[in-house]
Order: sequence, then structure tokens, then C-alpha cells
Amino acid sequence: MQIDILTIFPEMFEGPFRHSIIKRAADKGIARIRIVNIRDFATDRHRRVDDYPYGGGAGMVMMIEPISRCIEHLKQESEYDEIIYLSPDGDLLDQRMANWYSTRERILLLCGHYKGIDERIREHIITREVSIGDYVLSGGETAAMVFCDAVIRLVPGVLNDETSALSDSFQDNLLSPPVYTRPGDFRGMRVPDILLSGNDREIEEWRMQKALERTKARRPLLFGPEPGEGNP
Ligand code: ADE
Repeated sequence: MQIDILTIFPEMFEGPFRHSIIKRAADKGIARIRIVNIRDFATDRHRRVDDYPYGGGAGMVMMIEPISRCIEHLKQESEYDEIIYLSPDGDLLDQRMANWYSTRERILLLCGHYKGIDERIREHIITREVSIGDYVLSGGETAAMVFCDAVIRLVPGVLNDETSALSDSFQDNLLSPPVYTRPGDFRGMRVPDILLSGNDREIEEWRMQKALERTKARRPLLFGPEPGEGNP
């Protein structure tokens, strides 16, 4: 899989993708992230990527020209499965959506800034808008990082023990049960006896019970009907 991220702040990505699971995915050649500086596709000598909004008003708007040139250039390599604009207006990212994109080959993520991007980009170039939550970030970069993390860890072969992704919270529409490690007794706070019993079947039942209790208490809506097939 390849994810291309278009941004005017490429430096923001220097840290996050050099660690942990995303780094492992890149090292194994399973998932590659490429950071593309939109400014490199600006048409004027000031390398301008934003301008004042028609009709007036506060804030600058990201221009269509550099973004369009950039995407046309990248498309010469091959088509994208999806061209995503990260925006609070978009479809909410959830585990089902992350699963879907983990099976795609080539995705483009466009990070917006300022007051927004020229509407013509959203109408004619973008194939989907995705939000990571009902709050406003100062730019799409952090949302792109969240998207990549949620998706790439699900690509087969990225996690050492694939069952660890399968038992994630949400993967079966249930939150994860509690987990414990040593010591068995910390200042009187004891690990549940069942986990020390060695009885695998009862431990499995206990975990399922706890997952159900936690989901009912904290995310009752996850028990809703299964969504239909297809692009979530
Ligand atoms: N850009 C600004 N806010 C955002 C959000 N909540 N999700 C995705 N992109 C954004």
C-alpha cells in the first residue's frame, strides 16, 4: 500500500512516522508513506499556495492550481483508489472505515489549512472527505497522522501477531476487556482470580463478559445493526 500526503507543512511528519508500527510497516515494504510539499507545485515565484477569498471575509483560502498540478503529477504514476480531503465536514473515521482502507493499494490524503480549500477542489478532484472527530483542528496534518496509524496497523503482515489487531477494541464491535500484568497484588489492588486460574475456557468467557459489560456501559450504540456491505 502507498499513502501520499499532500501538505504545506512537510516538517510536521518528520517525527511521527519514524517510530513503532508505521516505521515497521515501511521497513517491511508493506506500507509506504510519501510526504509531498504542495508548495513545490506553486506556479509563481513566491511559491504561493493561498490567496484571499472572493467576496471578502477573514482568512486565506488554499488555491486550486498548486493542488491540481500536484495531484495530476502524482497520478501519472498510477490512479488512486481514493483522494481524501481531511475535513471536519467529512465522513467520520471509524474502525470499519479503517478496515476498508487497509485493503486499498493507493490513497492520497490532502491536508487543508487556513480558512479552507477552494471549493472546486472539493467538487472536482476529491473523491471523499474524512473527519477524525467532531472538533476543529488547525490543519489536516494531525488528522492525516491519525488516519495512517489507524489504517496501516491493519494491513496484513504489519503487526507481528495478526490476532492482536483482530482483538482490538471495535474490531468485533466490542470494546476490549481489561488487561493486567505483574504484580498480582499492588497495595491490595488484586488481579481478578480467574486470570490466575489457568482455565483458558473460563478466562475467555470472562473476557467476553467484560467486553460486553464495558461496551454496554460506555458505547451502547456499538450494539446497533450491522451496516451494509461495500465502501463504509
Ligand atoms: N481538519 C480540521 N479539523 C479536522 C477534523 N476534525 N478531522 C479531519 N480533518 C480536520
